[in-house]
Amino acid sequence: MLATSDPHAAVEVTPEPIMRVAAGFMAAQHLFAAAEVGLFEALADGPATIDEIAARTGLPAKTARIATDAMAALGLVTRDSGGAYANSPAAGAFLAGRTPADLRPFLTFWQRLTYPAWEKLPDAIRSGGGGGMSLDDPADNDVFSAGVEAITAGAAMALARVPELARAERLLDIGGGTGSFLAAALAAQSQLEGTLVELPPVAAIARRKLDGEPRAEVIDADVFGEPLPEGHDVLLLANVVHLFGRDRNRDLLRRVRHAAPDGATMLLVDFWTDPSHTEPALAALLAGEFLLVTGEGDVYSVEEMAELLAETGWDFVEARPLAGPQTLIVAAARPA
Ligand SMILES: C[S@@+](CC[C@H](N)C(=O)[O-])C[C@H]1O[C@@H](n2cnc3c(N)ncnc32)[C@H](O)[C@@H]1O
Repeated sequence: MLATSDPHAAVEVTPEPIMRVAAGFMAAQHLFAAAEVGLFEALADGPATIDEIAARTGLPAKTARIATDAMAALGLVTRDSGGAYANSPAAGAFLAGRTPADLRPFLTFWQRLTYPAWEKLPDAIRSGGGGGMSLDDPADNDVFSAGVEAITAGAAMALARVPELARAERLLDIGGGTGSFLAAALAAQSQLEGTLVELPPVAAIARRKLDGEPRAEVIDADVFGEPLPEGHDVLLLANVVHLFGRDRNRDLLRRVRHAAPDGATMLLVDFWTDPSHTEPALAALLAGEFLLVTGEGDVYSVEEMAELLAETGWDFVEARPLAGPQTLIVAAARPA
């Protein structure tokens, strides 16, 4: 333990903050492994000793202990004085497979796609971007889309009930992913019809989810390659702006404005930040993820978005909370 060389410093300086951050990758890998081997499902039926966990999961007792103790150290399971382990409330709610709020597909996404991609972070930081995550394999596309749907489920549920959708007639969901936002909105708003625009591999996933919903249409399109469908009074960009750099977002917002009638409402859901890009703290980390996914993604502050909206034919209306670190920007199509 080193003492600071500053004689006026009142506190001892230790490497603990550095070790805590550097060990973060071990915490993440332990979590991915525990979820993959079914530890949290195994504890869904009630507390268990290591031998019982080994029996329920089929793991060797030694490695069941290593996995379970790591989760106990991280607070995702508890251990009582008799050596029985139980899911923490968060693990029970989101990782045990017993509730609709299931974050296991999100962990699979980060484990299989994000984690290997982050080895390229130093290159991307050094070069200013580049690269991008390849989703050419349809299996990877499924993993990506299911993971995004899982982590944005809270925002999708919250958005479905916003007043702008309660008074809307037709919603255009641009880059709508699996259709989770549109499905939730249609379920919550019986007057609403919706169109979802997506790249073909993801549009196929959305079509499966929205199959049999007469108020929904799914269109295969590259939003930068072809005009967006017209005739919608509310337009949604959920977690799309963060994929792109500023120039492509300027182009995107102009294209959306072109398809929107005067006075239409645009809803932008994302990890919008404060002016310093450090709050919410998760967004500051996710900027690396968005950079790596497309080679040009980023996080944007509410103020930056207000500027970009003004440049592209939109009036910034307001920013307000939505679900956790996901917030909502509302804009109105400025009459030409
Ligand atoms: C992070 S996901 C967000 C999905 C969904 N809106 C949500 O919030 O859960 C971004 C989506 O944008 C889609 N996308 C990216 N580029 C696109 C393009 N050029 N045209 C249409 N969709 C695109 C991707 O396929 C992906 O499903």
